[in-house]
Amino acid sequence: MITPSSIDLATEARLIAAGVRYAAAWRGKTVVIKYGGSVLDAGAAGTVVEDLVLLKGAGVNPVLVHGGGPEITRMLDRVGKETRFIGGLRVTDEETMEIVEMVLAGRANKGLVTMIGAAGGSGVGLSGKDAGLLRARRLQGPVDLGLVGEVVEIRADIVKIISDAGHVPVIASIGLGEAGESLNLNADHAAGALAAAMGASKLIILTDVPGVMRAVDGAARLVSSLTVDEAQRLIADGTISRGMIPKVEACLMALARGVPSAHIIGTEAPHALLLELFTEEGIGTMITGGVR
Ligand SMILES: Nc1ncnc2c1ncn2[C@@H]1O[C@H](COP(=O)(O)OP(=O)(O)OP(=O)(O)O)[C@@H](O)[C@H]1O
Ligand SMILES: [Mg+2]
Repeated sequence: MITPSSIDLATEARLIAAGVRYAAAWRGKTVVIKYGGSVLDAGAAGTVVEDLVLLKGAGVNPVLVHGGGPEITRMLDRVGKETRFIGGLRVTDEETMEIVEMVLAGRANKGLVTMIGAAGGSGVGLSGKDAGLLRARRLQGPVDLGLVGEVVEIRADIVKIISDAGHVPVIASIGLGEAGESLNLNADHAAGALAAAMGASKLIILTDVPGVMRAVDGAARLVSSLTVDEAQRLIADGTISRGMIPKVEACLMALARGVPSAHIIGTEAPHALLLELFTEEGIGTMITGGVR
């Protein structure tokens, strides 16, 4: 780690100048950030919330989309309900959906809003049901996942109004179904779709690993960039599995719909968001591929 005593003033000045230049370049741009299920775990947030507030103060428009996986699983355990995942997506019956909504739109969402407030910013929490923000339909596929949805329409204008008024929009990944029912949306997919709908300049998916990893000579190594073809190959051969699949899919979808850049990064590095946005090399895995 660089501390003021370990670098000379000239180096420090260069770093500050570079940071300020990057901040100016990002001013007015929208960055959609997905924060994983560890949101409520003590200490797991690290500097994420502080970074969001700093970015907002620098004139960037961060929009947060969140999950709440571990807390949902804990709550399901408490009521004695088993949970099953297929391809990284939670099989959701009605009872499970009730708990998903309680945890995501309740504790997780308000927890993040409170943390943003405590860090000196202002968060406004929404679920996809508010103002019909994330309209969804039941996911069609080879297996029936129950009340799992996919986004069909997004009211990006609502998010923009909140952001333009100086708040950080904090969005729980619950969809509004065609009959008014709540649908469980994978937060990665929702973030990808929202980034595209908002014309965001970047999608950043934060998670509990440094990025996409693969084994090289028996050791797990970070894959620092990944093309569409490589990503599809790594999914097909099982290197990318479970919860990493929807992240890569979300990045590919955002890129295909015109978002210029998409990254999967870890929250462990201090100021991971600032490093990704305000340094040349960035961190984590950059998915590349552009418009297909
Ligand atoms: N190739 C891979 N590289 C890195 N992680 C991988 C890979 N394949 C599978 N994974 C798994 O994906 C996980 C990240 O997805 P996960 O869904 O668990 O987290 P999240 O989306 O951040 O949180 P949540 O889904 O709980 O809201 C990693 O912890 C790891 O176990
Ligand atoms: Mg996940």
